[in-house]
Amino acid sequence: MNKNIRKLSEISSKEKRKIIGLMSGTSLDGLDIALCNFQDSGINTKVEVERFTTLEYSDLTKKRIRSIFSKKEVALQDVCVYNSWLGNFMGKMVLQALKDWNIKPETIDCIASHGQTIYHAPKSIHGDDSLPNSTLQLGDSDHIARTTGIITIGDFRQKHTAAGGEGAPLAAYGDFMLFNKKEEQRILLNIGGIGNFTFLDGSGRSDRILLTDTGPGNTLIDAVVREYDQSKTYDKDGKLASKGTVNEGLLRKLMEHPFYKLLLPKSTGPEIFNLSYVKESISSAAIDRDIRIEDLIATLTMLTVHSISKAIKEIPGLAEPCNIFISGGGAKNKTIFKWLQESLPEHNIIYFDTLGVRSDAKEAVLFALLANETLAGEGIPFNNAAGKVENLTLGKISFPQ
Ligand SMILES: Nc1ncnc2c1ncn2[C@@H]1O[C@H](COP(=O)(O)OP(=O)(O)O)[C@@H](O)[C@H]1O
Ligand SMILES: [Mg+2]
Repeated sequence: MNKNIRKLSEISSKEKRKIIGLMSGTSLDGLDIALCNFQDSGINTKVEVERFTTLEYSDLTKKRIRSIFSKKEVALQDVCVYNSWLGNFMGKMVLQALKDWNIKPETIDCIASHGQTIYHAPKSIHGDDSLPNSTLQLGDSDHIARTTGIITIGDFRQKHTAAGGEGAPLAAYGDFMLFNKKEEQRILLNIGGIGNFTFLDGSGRSDRILLTDTGPGNTLIDAVVREYDQSKTYDKDGKLASKGTVNEGLLRKLMEHPFYKLLLPKSTGPEIFNLSYVKESISSAAIDRDIRIEDLIATLTMLTVHSISKAIKEIPGLAEPCNIFISGGGAKNKTIFKWLQESLPEHNIIYFDTLGVRSDAKEAVLFALLANETLAGEGIPFNNAAGKVENLTLGKISFPQ
């Protein structure tokens, strides 16, 4: 037997697995690194987050990623080179974190790496029915495995698109396995660059999980803040938004985008929700181009809130009140939190941390869970085009040697 396969089989049959989840979202703020201990799999999965950190990206790193990020035309050579560089770089960041934690790499069973999405193009974005849903994440897992000496599972989204899904959002499967509660409806809302939620209807049935993106989360707020003041990258605690007044005309124009009219579930990205969308909406709403920065940020913050509450209100069979557990960087934006509660008075907005996993670690933990399923579980329940649930094992396995 190949020794790598033997090692894999040993990891698979262990009672507990140490898996490091890596997540780098569309906000490009840094690499989330979660060291998790897993026991069991599927709906019996138990996870304990032993360590967590976000290692911030340097300006050079952000600049490189942004140069090829969600643009239709980029330098192909950079895409090629950055795929290897990012893998190597993420591997080095894992080694750095392990060193900081005084933990030996040999004690880790596996790394689960999401990679960096540089383009997300489901049919709703590329618009050609003769072509499949597609998505592209860089940071090749062979490079992570080589750099760290640790077996790495990466590229989780491809199988989902190959099976007919949009490749996103994938968080719902972990949400279901870890946070489903019988007889209780729950919404698990994550506000990263893009907003998404998982709706669990309390039936415990995997074919009833609803997972969807809602539209922009922080991405537009970040982009405008960055353009206005290069020393800032986001609206800390939602302070700017709280000082501004929502421009209702501009908000209406922004909400006219066809994405908001698509039925649930749907997925999107910064390919759609970017500065051009904001600028075009400003000019077609005939708004004064000198709109105050506070008012523009307030309007974009309300757009995030509106698009989330609109999608939540569209959930079929949603009972009142429903507990909405909020995570992601956007949960730290106090204005988003306050306005969301005001726009959904019939429901309870609760910090996700109360479920026992820290909010900023959530997505990295959920990708570690997907790797745990690949190693030791039956895979994730996927509703295929024929309306049947089939189990998919996500991710590609990379060995150090
Ligand atoms: N204290 C805060 N106040 C307001 N917004 C915040 C705060 N902390 C983080 N954020 C927002 O969260 C974003 C990062 O969220 P994250 O969940 O990491 O998203 P992604 O998965 O897209 O990387 C930041 O870019 C910023 O917009
Ligand atoms: Mg992030």
